[in-house]
Amino acid sequence: DQQERGELLKAYELVARVYRSILMNTAQGRDALSYLRTRGMSDELLETFQIGYAPNMWDALVKQLEKSGFKLPLMDQGGLVSAKSDGQGYVDKFRDRVMIPIHDAKGRVIAFGGRAMGDVQPKYLNSPESLLFHKSRSLYNLHRARAEIRKREQAVLFEGYFDVIRAWDAGVHHGVATMGTALTKEHAEALKRLTGEVVVCYDGDNAGQAAAYKSIAILEQAGLSVKIAMLEGGKDPDEYIAAYGKDRFVREIIEGAVTTTKFRLVYARRNVRLQDEADRLRYLRGAVKLISELASPIEREHYLRDLSSEFGISIETLKQDVAQHLLRKE
Ligand code: UTP
Ligand code: MN
Ligand code: MN
Ligand code: MN
Ligand code: MN
Repeated sequence: DQQERGELLKAYELVARVYRSILMNTAQGRDALSYLRTRGMSDELLETFQIGYAPNMWDALVKQLEKSGFKLPLMDQGGLVSAKSDGQGYVDKFRDRVMIPIHDAKGRVIAFGGRAMGDVQPKYLNSPESLLFHKSRSLYNLHRARAEIRKREQAVLFEGYFDVIRAWDAGVHHGVATMGTALTKEHAEALKRLTGEVVVCYDGDNAGQAAAYKSIAILEQAGLSVKIAMLEGGKDPDEYIAAYGKDRFVREIIEGAVTTTKFRLVYARRNVRLQDEADRLRYLRGAVKLISELASPIEREHYLRDLSSEFGISIETLKQDVAQHLLRKE
């Protein structure tokens, strides 16, 4: 209910402040701070994103929350502490993790993403669903990005926290991310309320590209037009910026985002050995079929020209193939 929500919001605000202070001002935070430095996080970025550290203790938060008069069963429900298995009291939920606060539309902290620093599994521990936090509706960084999304009439959609943060550092201030869940209709609708266009910039690995492929239909269903910022070589946006720099990321990846048709044509080639004649023909037939589904003759011709010059097949022949597809549809 309202009162519990209010209490929990206050607790999250307090906890975000405590984690932040432990990272910046204490010896306990030193390793986390150097970890963040090696990941390219300046003090300014850490401040902007209010990043903190949950110490390697069982009861740092439990004590702090009790002292401040919060009721631990509610804190448990809210995902800040966990009841001990023997029922005797509570322990901190997050230990020895870099803490990334997640905000609601009004900029209030409603959850955390907790990044382990070593090879600890899971890599991220996220706050559970609660009175405040619903993963399938929340987009990371939306409250900071909102004004810029409106201004640029575009949003950029990433997979992860660090992608959003690094891209922000590169001047991409209209980036948001889902948090360890697939993009939902609710996410797409939230974006549609702000803009008409989304650039999907998912990880360059197979999982990321497959997720990008799936996101297209969800975004288009919500009435958004979609572009895809493609990262080759398996890197994610954060790794790409670390390797090639901010400018190249913005110019080549974000501004170089391609149409969904171009992306589908590239995606269809991912397991194709183009030197193999049968594979090449199968790819070509699939590509022509995809192109024949475009409503605009101008667009069809545009992509057919690319195919024609790459595969040395005349545009007339390709158009005949398209005509066959169109006939079959009637
Ligand atoms: P990735 O698996 O791509 O993270 O997860 P990464 O790029 O290797 O690691 P970092 O972030 O650069 O250190 C992308 C996003 O998926 C969610 C998180 O929101 C993360 O930012 N995720 C990932 C989880 O929720 N839990 C996990 O265990 C892993
Ligand atoms: Mn800006
Ligand atoms: Mn990934
Ligand atoms: Mn990643
Ligand atoms: Mn990453």
